Amino acid sequence: MARLYCIAVALLLLAEVSRFGEGASNPGFVVRITRKGLEYARQYGVAILKKELSTMELPNFSGSYKVSWILTVSYEFNWLKIKRFELRDTDLSLHPGQGVRASLSNSYMSVRGNWKVKKAFITLEGTFDLSVDGISISVSLNLGKHQSGQPTASVAHCSNSIGQVRIAISGHLSWILKLFHEKIENSVKNILEQKICEMVRKSTVSYLEPYLRTLPVTLMIDQVAGIDYSLVGAPQVTSQFLDTSFKGEFFGQSLHSPVLFDAPPIRMPQKYDHMVYFAVSEYVFNTASQVYYQAGRMNFTIKNEHIPLDSPVHLHTSSFQTIVPQLTRLYPNMELELEMSPESAPFLMFIPGNMTLMPVVDIQAFVLLPNPSDRKPLFQLRVRTNISATISVSSGRITGSVTTGSKLKLELKHSNVRLFSVQLMEAVLNYYALHTIYPYLNAKLEAGFPLPLPRDTTLNSLELQIHKDFLLLGANID
Ligand SMILES: *[C@@H]1O[C@H](CO)[C@@H](O)[C@H](O)[C@H]1NC(C)=O
Ligand SMILES: *[C@@H]1O[C@H](CO)[C@@H](O)[C@H](O)[C@H]1NC(C)=O
Ligand SMILES: *[C@@H]1O[C@H](CO)[C@@H](O)[C@H](O)[C@H]1NC(C)=O
Ligand SMILES: *[C@@H]1O[C@H](CO)[C@@H](O)[C@H](O)[C@H]1NC(C)=O
Repeated sequence: MARLYCIAVALLLLAEVSRFGEGASNPGFVVRITRKGLEYARQYGVAILKKELSTMELPNFSGSYKVSWILTVSYEFNWLKIKRFELRDTDLSLHPGQGVRASLSNSYMSVRGNWKVKKAFITLEGTFDLSVDGISISVSLNLGKHQSGQPTASVAHCSNSIGQVRIAISGHLSWILKLFHEKIENSVKNILEQKICEMVRKSTVSYLEPYLRTLPVTLMIDQVAGIDYSLVGAPQVTSQFLDTSFKGEFFGQSLHSPVLFDAPPIRMPQKYDHMVYFAVSEYVFNTASQVYYQAGRMNFTIKNEHIPLDSPVHLHTSSFQTIVPQLTRLYPNMELELEMSPESAPFLMFIPGNMTLMPVVDIQAFVLLPNPSDRKPLFQLRVRTNISATISVSSGRITGSVTTGSKLKLELKHSNVRLFSVQLMEAVLNYYALHTIYPYLNAKLEAGFPLPLPRDTTLNSLELQIHKDFLLLGANID
């Protein structure tokens, strides 16, 4: 009985731990590369590898050969230069739990160089052409997470084999060399077998690693906020996708307070038609909301100067005569101010197809007394509304805009003036919302925030979908 109890407790604890682990590690942002994206990467990688392999420096080599019992020739092969390198059958494949494997087979190269033969005081020289067929290279890349928060790629395994080397020698006495062409061909084979993987490793270090290093870890958005795009874990390889998970969390530049909510799990749909998919969790938007809220950037005072000139109602006591009849008598010919502050950071809710905010905002109205810097509180309202958000993507940035999702609903919290018409005030505020508040918010949202992209990446054929708890952006790269 006691033992059963212990097991039950242990299981419960484990369940707690794993649930905690899940919540703590959910990413705010996931980049998924599909097979189509991998195909693009393959072409790009092949172009780089071809360039690198074609400029590979081949060492001189020398040796000696006993032609007969009295004649030994010593030879040197210098100035080996690659004329052509053709990568023919290339493939980039995903190996679940391991990484990415690149294989190249049936490749071909041609090399030209000089030969020199020395015998006593005589030196003979000429040129040679080498053709190398059936070059196969197999490279496994391990993907990981660097302590900087960026992804890493390293060569876990590289092997290659050379099919056939043929040498064509020209010049005087080239027949001597032709006697031992097999020996020369084997030397070349050995040199190449060593050099090719060395070059592959070098290209990974000099191209791929620096490329991955151009992924931003933190990006500053403005004076208030930055976004943390560090990796949550090493990239995950499945048979269909390569997924990289980022934190995707806004933080305050001056006030770095902890986030009090977890990122929901992102359940990516199985989609294949674009090269890359970006899943942006509501977590990204809501941490942004929290940061701007805490920095006071959501407090906004509407002054008369913000009201369009052709508005039927100005922030002036004379305009408010019908709403608060007493007002003109108490404060004749004075301006008003409406101080708006959300009761809490408004969170963006994602339901398939739509994004909505349901802010609850306090509005405190003041009258500006003739004595500057003196103002008197008049009444306080609580306003609820549903705001409908639209997201778009351009030039690698996610931008937003908002429109009214419902009319503002007012509740009078407190009033220092009697006889207050909530309905009329509601009409006025709805007018202000459309003509002042939404245009102001949209001007702020226009700047948006950047996606974590490595340098020189342009997205096209964008497709945007709203799923439960996240936004999914499909794109191709060029
Ligand atoms: C090959 O030999 C030539 C002539 O001896 C020399 O100038 C050159 O530096 C050598 N190249 C390499 C890669 O060792
Ligand atoms: C926003 O305004 C409210 C009401 O005036 C105030 O209580 C709150 O402290 C302000 N927030 C910040 C961060 O300044
Ligand atoms: C999404 O919003 C639009 C416009 O606000 C509305 O017409 C539509 O019914 C909403 N869809 C869902 C699924 O709620
Ligand atoms: C906002 O939408 C929710 C759900 O559709 C609804 O229950 C609520 O009444 C709406 N609020 C306002 C202020 O219209």
